[in-house]
Amino acid sequence: MLDLAPDRQSLDPIEIASRDEIEALQLTRLKWSLAHAYHNVAHTAVAFKAAGVHPDDLRSLADIRRFPFTQKSDLRANYPFGMFAVPREQVIRLHASSGTTGKPTVVGYTAKDLDTWAGLMARSMRACGTRPGDIVHLSYGYGLFTGGLGFHYGAEKLGCTVVPVSGGMTHRQVSLIEDFGASTIGSTPSYMLSILDEYRAQGRDPRQSPLRVGIFGGEPWTNAMRAEIEQAFDMHALDCYGLSEVIGPGVAIECVETKDGLHLWEDHFLAEIIDPASGEVLPDGQVGELVLTSLTKEALPIIRYRTRDLTRLLPGTARSMRRIEKLRGRSDDMIILRGVNVFPSQIEEQLLAQPGLALHFQIELRREGRMDAMILSVETANATEDAERLRLGARLQKRIKQMLGITVQVNAGIPGTVPRSQGKAGRIIDNRPKI
Ligand code: DLL
Repeated sequence: MLDLAPDRQSLDPIEIASRDEIEALQLTRLKWSLAHAYHNVAHTAVAFKAAGVHPDDLRSLADIRRFPFTQKSDLRANYPFGMFAVPREQVIRLHASSGTTGKPTVVGYTAKDLDTWAGLMARSMRACGTRPGDIVHLSYGYGLFTGGLGFHYGAEKLGCTVVPVSGGMTHRQVSLIEDFGASTIGSTPSYMLSILDEYRAQGRDPRQSPLRVGIFGGEPWTNAMRAEIEQAFDMHALDCYGLSEVIGPGVAIECVETKDGLHLWEDHFLAEIIDPASGEVLPDGQVGELVLTSLTKEALPIIRYRTRDLTRLLPGTARSMRRIEKLRGRSDDMIILRGVNVFPSQIEEQLLAQPGLALHFQIELRREGRMDAMILSVETANATEDAERLRLGARLQKRIKQMLGITVQVNAGIPGTVPRSQGKAGRIIDNRPKI
């Protein structure tokens, strides 16, 4: 793979500033953000008063822990625009989460917010090895999801030629990548696997594709999956993290020169890790729930947002800003099977460690008697004979029992039986009765 490490001179000075400089900037900006939310969002004023705190009480960054958390339910309760801190006329863009459970959460951006976001995405893409002048193929969904437009504005700001394809029509994605000569692709990791399938279905060699950089996010994926994608396409595969409530993609990114976790853009976001049960702040290095506070956002300042994402904070390497470890998954996605905690990402790791199976999987949860059962659907890479499928399925079942300590039923189908992702993969189908 090509050496795509960016030139130090091309970085924003703050990316390589000292910790003291970064923290001084954070403190100034945090004071502004707390006051902005308190004075302009009724919900925040009420919440701060109930907790007995005022923005003036913040003297150091550590004082943030005295302030109340914001949860997704707070955004829902103030649907649609109640959390905005500027008059609605100044909000020039809306996005929203899909809202599979209840109302969607609506987020808004002023012109300055969009500029900040584009700047962070341009910085993120540069960290991944994308350069001005590159052709960027975007398969993230456009629309209310922040993936498509977030990457789009960032790539334009960096000076790239953007191909705004969005998700779907996978056969056409392949010809557009090839015909236009895209060197960067942005997509969910699971959709990239659908594109890989399509390359093979068309009899094209993905290693001969023009792609050199893939920027994947929006859902958890493992280092094992990275190795598969890098090997298949002979390109760098980088992880990109973000969430709509905080801005969208562009909160944290892997650097192509280290690929050792995701650097958080700490000049715009303050990160904490908490114990999800007690809410206590944990020291750097310990795993817990990521909590984020926006430092510069105008339309939707967000204070101590509980992301539900589990990770830990690590010191900076390629940049001065701290890193988050590749995400293990969301606390809501953790499956408790007969007392053992498992994340879909752990299943993905075991699947990828076994040759003969394709990279696609889906988990179904059922209630059998008083116990929960997990049915794992996978498919063979090319074998279609029943005996071979059964053998591969049984082998995976044994491996999962050995490595994760849980008993799952594995159904290994013929190639093409597991539903393909067009965006974020629906890994878990929960058919347990609702209590
Ligand atoms: O998924 C923003 C995004 C778009 C990020 C494209 C990266 C690329 P939401 O739809 O609000 O926003 O979903 C946010 O997705 O809380 C995580 O649980 C999950 N997530 C996002 N990126 C990653 C990642 C976008 N790199 C939620 N690894 C977050 C693991 C991720 N999970």
